[in-house]
This record gives sequence, structure tokens and C-alpha cells, in this order.
Amino acid sequence: MYVCLCTGVTDREIRSAVEDGCQSMRQLGKELGVGRQCGRCAASAREIMRECQAED
Ligand code: FES
Repeated sequence: MYVCLCTGVTDREIRSAVEDGCQSMRQLGKELGVGRQCGRCAASAREIMRECQAED
């Protein structure tokens, strides 16, 4: 599922970035470009990141 429509980033890509050590929205933005344009995806991206971190 697409999370960030501006950059075409999926929840899968976010999860794998978090698994590879991405710890913050800032880092996520740097690596994938999530949330750097319109910003509408930020809340869901953060949610996915948290979920993924909680699974560890
Ligand atoms: Fe992610 Fe616009 S949907 S920056």
C-alpha cells in the first residue's frame, strides 16, 4: 500500500528501512523521501514506523 503518494513510497519500504536501522521520521525522509513534499503522509508513516519498532 502506498503511504506517500508524492514519492510513491509503500509501507513495505518503510518497514524495511526501519528494519535496516532507520529510527526517526527525519531519517526516513532522508532515506526514502517520505513526508518531504506535501507532508500528508507523515502521520501514517510515523505510525508504521512505531508499529515496526514495537515488533522488535
Ligand atoms: Fe508524502 Fe506528500 S504524500 S509528502
